[in-house]
Amino acid sequence: MKALVLSGGKGTRLRPITYTSAKQLVPVANKPILFRVIETIQEVGITEIGVVLGDTGHEIRQAVGSGKRWGVNLTFIEQEAPLGLAHAVKVSRDFLGDDRFVMFLGDNCIQGGIGPLVEQFDHHRYNAQIVLKQVNDPRQFGVADIDDDGRIARLVEKPRVPQSDLALVGIYLFDSSIWEAVEQIRPSFRGELEITDAIQWLIEHGHRVYPYIHEGWWIDTGKKDDLLEANRLVLEELHGAIEGYIDRDSQIIGRVTVERGAEIINSTIRGPAIIGEHTRVLNSYIGPFTSIYHHCLIESSEIEHSIVLESCTIRDLPHRLEDSLIGRNVDIARSPFKPRAYRLTLGDNSSVGVL
Ligand code: DAU
Repeated sequence: MKALVLSGGKGTRLRPITYTSAKQLVPVANKPILFRVIETIQEVGITEIGVVLGDTGHEIRQAVGSGKRWGVNLTFIEQEAPLGLAHAVKVSRDFLGDDRFVMFLGDNCIQGGIGPLVEQFDHHRYNAQIVLKQVNDPRQFGVADIDDDGRIARLVEKPRVPQSDLALVGIYLFDSSIWEAVEQIRPSFRGELEITDAIQWLIEHGHRVYPYIHEGWWIDTGKKDDLLEANRLVLEELHGAIEGYIDRDSQIIGRVTVERGAEIINSTIRGPAIIGEHTRVLNSYIGPFTSIYHHCLIESSEIEHSIVLESCTIRDLPHRLEDSLIGRNVDIARSPFKPRAYRLTLGDNSSVGVL
């Protein structure tokens, strides 16, 4: 069995972070989502993994390398434009051949692995299997109807009036019958070749398509709040490990990870929280559900329920920073200059809440 990870696309909903980098590389609890996806696949013993790339391909290649560190072989597949999930499958034909494969969206974060799913698919020799999860608002996802025999009856992509509360999680299993399906479908209302339409084609042409209901949590990390929620859920499972330096004036409360080379000076860290490699936390408070990535400086500030990406400097904030996603190399500081005013340099589509 092979795997296909989709890491192309535009990531418009995570702007401005995704103007400059791939959304699949945004870290959740200090590990890029894409790395979590590759690990989940590697855990079931799949070693041949195709990675579909778009505009941010260069950055993704650099971040993941050959796959050696996970003991897998990565094959990079260029998709000329984000023309849809089924299009991404089509351009991967040479890599996949006629093998059965699992397709995983590179921006999806799930609890637990895919072991039982892959086992079920193998055992029953289904033509396709899709992963479903009950959600409160299915309108932003693909939505599935299940018939009385437990098969998938119908799939609709982002319906205005959903027929059920079962959303399609971004994990799919296929055999070679998918090849005819992706050739037969036409672009949808949003101009994309939808994988949901290809699966619907399989159903209508008598192929065996079955659901797998995912019981743990699942987050499609498309937007800031989803990302913070994924960060919260992953940190909930953190065991905590201190590999960095903590001085005697600091307090570590609860499950906290302080990575190699990090320094905590005269500060309080209340877990679950993670402080990245070579980050310095000075005279500060870091509260629950916060991930500070590597090479940051946090000085005389308070941060809670936030994600801070690499190489940021946050100093002398008069109020606590909360519910925030801070991109790379960002500098936030209290300004000593008069007149007292906000002085901002923000990328397009930034969003700032001031007091
Ligand atoms: O996350 C689950 C949802 O994913 C499903 O419920 C939907 O049925 C499915 O269509 C998909 O919807 P999204 O609108 O969230 O897909 P998105 O455009 O965000 O793309 C998902 C991933 O696939 C993302 O990592 C980018 C990548 N991608 C996307 C497209 C359109 C590609 O690699 N190539 C593409 O052409």
